[in-house]
Amino acid sequence: MNVSCIVNGQAVSVADVRPAESLLDVLRERLALTGAKNACEQGECGSCSVYLDGVLVCSCLVLAGQAQGASITTIEGLASDGELDPVQRAFVRCGAIQCGFCTPGLLLATHDLLGKTPDPDEDEIREALAGNLCRCTGYQKIIDAVRSAARVVADTAAH
Ligand code: FES
Ligand code: FES
Repeated sequence: MNVSCIVNGQAVSVADVRPAESLLDVLRERLALTGAKNACEQGECGSCSVYLDGVLVCSCLVLAGQAQGASITTIEGLASDGELDPVQRAFVRCGAIQCGFCTPGLLLATHDLLGKTPDPDEDEIREALAGNLCRCTGYQKIIDAVRSAARVVADTAAH
């Protein structure tokens, strides 16, 4: 089957998609968008997160055919006009990245959280990121980065 969709603002069409092929595989293997990572393929780690029509999903659990006609944003689409998103800058600033494998998923989960809850407390941050596993950082710097990003977003909105 052919799948046509919008990925990071660009219309794409992928031919000969197998019925069981995941959206994650299409993004990584067909479209060379390797920011979404393949770790568990069971919806457990969040490393494959992408927005599908504005909803954060584990792309390993989405059949590529379900993306027909949809709009998808991957981590490659988070920056705009060559400028990192405030969430990306906060992760860098706070040292919230070590190996980086979990980082794309955490960035999108943080972006999603701040879109819904601009000033989250620690419990809300931990709950929002509970589906994203990190084997390196111990999470504290990630939480610091989320708070830092929230402050920047709030300051920007106030000016
Ligand atoms: S690879 Fe999709 S949730 Fe882990
Ligand atoms: S930075 Fe290595 S898994 Fe999170």
